[in-house]
Amino acid sequence: MTLGADWLDLKDRVAVVTGAGGGIGAAVASELARNGVRIAALDINEDGALATAEHLKKAGTDAIGFRVDIADESSVREAAETVAARYGPADILINNAGVMRSGDLSELSLSDWQFVLDVNLTGYLLCARTFGEAMRESGRGSIVHVSSISAAHPQASSGAYSPSKAAVSMLSRTLAFEWGPFGVRSNVVAPGMTRTPLTESFYEQPGVLEARAAVVPLRRVGAPQDLADVCTWLASDRSAYVTGQEIAVDGGFTQTLMSHVPRPGY
Ligand SMILES: NC(=O)c1ccc[n+]([C@@H]2O[C@H](COP(=O)([O-])OP(=O)(O)OC[C@H]3O[C@@H](n4cnc5c(N)ncnc54)[C@H](O)[C@@H]3O)[C@@H](O)[C@H]2O)c1
Repeated sequence: MTLGADWLDLKDRVAVVTGAGGGIGAAVASELARNGVRIAALDINEDGALATAEHLKKAGTDAIGFRVDIADESSVREAAETVAARYGPADILINNAGVMRSGDLSELSLSDWQFVLDVNLTGYLLCARTFGEAMRESGRGSIVHVSSISAAHPQASSGAYSPSKAAVSMLSRTLAFEWGPFGVRSNVVAPGMTRTPLTESFYEQPGVLEARAAVVPLRRVGAPQDLADVCTWLASDRSAYVTGQEIAVDGGFTQTLMSHVPRPGY
């Protein structure tokens, strides 16, 4: 094909985006839609899912939105049936819905630990398995898991968040290995500091935005669109030989470890 304005060549594909009711998920759904993808916007927040779908429909996209709890197997199964009835098998899954419960590991309640693992890890497996079934049958699919830079860099006082994201990295790599022979790819996008409803409370404090931007080589906090662009590329065949990989979308923040080392004279 000739690469041009439509170089991603995604028109009429079908994407399921979890956590599409706001933040990164809504931005990914919009970017995929801009590229001609039909969208199933899923979220535990029904109003959010409906609002995203409504917004996309107004912009001319074929979209549906409905409530799903990704940690509930029967809810995910029902969602897959709804999507299949409307669009046929999904080509793309953006595993994005995520939660956080703060707390030091010494005192975190087991229910908070379990809640985060249920959504951030088991929910990703349930969605991959349920929507991936048709992908394996059709011999085509791209799964993008939205993880975090905290998968590789411990985020203190955040309970099971870092462990859950670290496990998503291995989940993705294992899926890449197991499902590669069926034409299904699995990759991770790891956001750095990104301004969304999940993190908005940090930015309400005066000076936090500027202080965070100052420690990022690209000198700004990320926006949901930064993630949407990379997810859309990974969803497309322009990344057809990329699987089992992880891309940090963090403005270079994870490359700054050496800045903590005192180096007199430099
Ligand atoms: N914002 C950041 O700085 C940042 C950094 C690293 C990673 N992330 C990751 O990016 C992803 C998106 O985060 P965001 O910042 O857009 O957060 P967000 O809170 O704005 O969006 C997450 C969405 O997931 C939905 N959700 C939560 N539990 C669900 C469930 N059980 N089933 C279905 N939907 C559910 C929420 O209702 C919400 O709409 C998450 O996986 C998060 O861990 C975000």
